[in-house]
Order: sequence, then C-alpha cells, then structure tokens
Amino acid sequence: MMIDDPVLLGDWHVVARASELAPSSVRPARLLGVDIVVWRGEDGIQVWDDLCVHRGSKLSGGRVRDGCLTCPYHGWTYDAQGECVRIPAHPAQKPPPRAHTNVHPVKVAYGLVWTCLGTPAGELPPFPEWDDPSYRNIPCGPYLFRALGPRVIENFLDVGHFPFVHAGYLGDPAHTEIDDYEAVITPTGVISRDIPIWQPDPDGTGQSAKVLYTYEALKPLTARFTKAQGEKRFTMIDIVTPVDEGRSLAWAIMAMNYAFDVPAEKIVLFQDEVTAQDLPIVESQRPELLPLDLQSELHLRSDRTAIAYRKWLRQLGLKYGTS
Ligand code: FES
Ligand code: FE
Repeated sequence: MMIDDPVLLGDWHVVARASELAPSSVRPARLLGVDIVVWRGEDGIQVWDDLCVHRGSKLSGGRVRDGCLTCPYHGWTYDAQGECVRIPAHPAQKPPPRAHTNVHPVKVAYGLVWTCLGTPAGELPPFPEWDDPSYRNIPCGPYLFRALGPRVIENFLDVGHFPFVHAGYLGDPAHTEIDDYEAVITPTGVISRDIPIWQPDPDGTGQSAKVLYTYEALKPLTARFTKAQGEKRFTMIDIVTPVDEGRSLAWAIMAMNYAFDVPAEKIVLFQDEVTAQDLPIVESQRPELLPLDLQSELHLRSDRTAIAYRKWLRQLGLKYGTS
C-alpha cells in the first residue's frame, strides 16, 4: 500500500544509480510502498508503476525493444510515454485509451535517478561539489536499513556516537566530550556549524586532530556533513529513499578536495565499514518512529542538531517515520 504522506509524495526520491541502467535495461524498485519499474529506452530513463494494466503483471520482468517496454505476460507493448501501442493477441486492434501505465516524472542529477510519486513541490537538494572541479566525487551505497528514514537521518546527524560506534574510525573512547555548538532551523532546513570533533585520523594521513563538522538537514530525508581541517574539505550527502514501512535505502556521495591519489575503492570500503557499524544500532532503535514530541526521549546539549531536526520535521508535518 502506498504510504500516504503528503510531504514525501511531493518530494523527489532516488530510485536508481544512472550508471547502473545500461541501454535497454529494466529493473524493479520500491518507493513509499509502491512497486515501480525503472528502465532506459531510446528516449532516456522512465519510471512507472510496476504494473501492466491488462492483468497486473509486473512490467519489470519485461523487455525493452525498439524504445518500448513489453509486458512479460501477454506482450502488451508500451511506448516511452506509457501508452500501450501493441496488443499481440490482436495486432490489428487499436489498444483502448485506458491502456497506459502510471508514468512518474524523472530527473537525473548527481549520477542518480530521481522521481516523485505525487506532484513535485520542490527542487532536488543542492550538492554544488558535484560540479566543482576542485572536488572529486565518490558515490557509495545504497545501504539498506531495516529502519525508517528519520532514524537513519538522525543517526547521520549525530556527533556523540563516534567514540562508541566508530571507535578507531571516526572517534576514540578517550575523547568523548562534545563542545558546545548551535543548531539553527533555517527556511530550508537545519544547520549546525563548526562542531569541533576529535578524530584519530580525520584525513587519512594517520595524524589525530580536532576537525570542524558542519551538519545540515536539506530535506526531511536528506542530510549532509562537511568536515573541515584547514583547507581540506570532506563532505558527504546522505539521501534516504523511503522504500516502505520497514525499509530505507541510503544513497551517499562523498566529495573531497584532497587525497586525489587515494583509490576510490579504499574510501568506499572505509564508508562501508562505518555504515556497517551504524546499521545494527539504528535497526535496534525503538520506537521505530522518531518521536517529535521532545518530552518523549532525553536530550542533551550535544543533541542540538537532532532536537532542531525533530522540531523542523514537526513544522513540515512529516508523518512517515515519526510519531
Ligand atoms: Fe501484461 Fe497481460 S498482464 S500483457
Ligand atoms: Fe555513524
């Protein structure tokens, strides 16, 4: 069943990585509880409901031929606009006007395929580093969480867990204290600037240092951080797809303006390990729904970003994944 959340139905969500969609390829995806089909024809990438209007078979099991998608069951053939143009059992008969699929809008940006199940009410989250030649971009994920988007994003925005969940990677049990910082709700989201964090090896040179983390919530289910150390910047955007009532997919892109010689695989592997450390924690959190009533969990000064995020979600009226 479709998750009925007006905020998310009007927002753009990632359903595939563009580079993984070869010409004439078809793949299933799931968004807000809806099965969808993503395919690439001669006119580019299409995103539809994964449903043939004849007998409800999944179109993602079909094939692309001559710029059309053909249903695997009886071969009804849909053109790139989603109109049925051929019914093989009756080749001379013009397909009835109702024989068309439910077509969704598509955008391709940051190497990702985005769609919207309702009427798009906004833009994609900004990620200016993608087109900035002083940065290299390194995509990673998507990471599957058996958890709901708001818990996943709040974990991404959390500074206090580094020494515990990511000891030796992003933090150290001997350095647990979090300096004071501000979190601000802006017209476009939440921002917490320049939080000093002690890290065992923030830039891969093996030297421990205090670095400054800036966290931003850009969309209800999209956040980024930027780690600054002198002129060095490491930034990561985390775009969470609300798959259904129990699952989220986190698509991430890292961008950095240094260490151009370090192989991308090594950086991705590090991130895979860090996410594997977060995964059991986030999946264990109860309730699964993020409580927007600030009385229901305990908050510290170091949780200011999370507090602002919860307040902002309440302002937006996000229903999915919240209580
Ligand atoms: Fe698709 Fe019959 S169910 S062609
Ligand atoms: Fe983490």
